[in-house]
Amino acid sequence: MADRKETITETIATRVLPPTKENIEAAGAVIRRGGLVAFPTETVFGLGADALNAAAVKKVYEAKGRPSDNPMIVHIAAAPELAALTDQHDGMLEQITRAFWPGPLTVVVRKRSVVPATTTGGLDTVAVRNPESTIARELIRASGTPIAAPSANISGRPSPTKTEHVIHDLQGKIDVILSGPDCRVGIESTVLDMSEGHPVILRPGIITPEEIGAVCGQTAELDPTLRQRPTEEERRDPAQFHPKAPGMKYKHYAPQAEMVIFEGSPSAVRRRIEEAKAAQEQAGKKVGVILFGEHDFARAAHDLFADLRRQDEEGVDLILAGALSDQNSVGFAVMNRMLKSAGYHVIKV
Ligand code: TXA
Ligand code: MG
Repeated sequence: MADRKETITETIATRVLPPTKENIEAAGAVIRRGGLVAFPTETVFGLGADALNAAAVKKVYEAKGRPSDNPMIVHIAAAPELAALTDQHDGMLEQITRAFWPGPLTVVVRKRSVVPATTTGGLDTVAVRNPESTIARELIRASGTPIAAPSANISGRPSPTKTEHVIHDLQGKIDVILSGPDCRVGIESTVLDMSEGHPVILRPGIITPEEIGAVCGQTAELDPTLRQRPTEEERRDPAQFHPKAPGMKYKHYAPQAEMVIFEGSPSAVRRRIEEAKAAQEQAGKKVGVILFGEHDFARAAHDLFADLRRQDEEGVDLILAGALSDQNSVGFAVMNRMLKSAGYHVIKV
């Protein structure tokens, strides 16, 4: 039998605070002292710690149950603060940050030594974002330090877009949760690697390659691994799947229910989902459906994670989802999350 001590998880008192000026000041003081604060941003809620304090950042990995080689995004209150984190300052970086900051875009740049290896998962680059959310920027200002923040969910679960999601996942594990409005965007920021001189999108988001290309006069390439999907055999036996990006190996954003995506013409997808739903219900399963409007990509981004969490709360056994067109860049970004949620289980119709 396991040692009893191992099964007892330590809990701490978590204060859930509305984002008043005083509470943001108090939360900033918690960050300065090396504590953990969850806070709203326009994309998803973040779980923040002092980005320059390795011991504090280590606690973020522990609270989330996240592998420590997965690097974090460092959040700054205003664009000029980027200069403290990197020596890189080229014209393209300047154009991009001026066009999209504050906002849902993260840039990966070569890091200065002030950024601890713990924050960047040992990489010599650092991901930096200047969020649009006023609460987030005020918190960073109150902390007096850049804030390292991954999404404020238990690793593997859908990212949190409502205060209640953060409370559900992290209460008892962190010091403060700043409550806030539902996140406007709903999926995480676009991650753009600028460290090699040409822009490469590592994670698609609401800011698209077309928009980035229009600003810097160069097409932003998609990292090729973003288009990789495991074959049916590899999906059934993940040991056979060897993608370049380690994150691809794992089921991310995953609901507790099994999830299947139907991909094809919208009318065929609707019909197949109805048929499958009827058949599965006949077999005694509780079935949930996620079907977004064909052209309403921003809406899909906004709703996806909250919908996945709601299905779990309702105790659904099986989620049947309709694919979005990945010809649209926002559709592609939402599909990137849906595919991971479903462990790449896709049925072509
Ligand atoms: O919208 C967002 O970006 C949210 C909010 C809280 O700002 N944050 C977020 O963080 O999504 P997280 O940790 O869940 O995702 C960070 C992503 C991961 O895919 C990670 O691999 C990538 O950014 N990343 C971070 N640092 C990197 C680096 N130096 N090089 C390449 N990728 C990096
Ligand atoms: Mg995340």
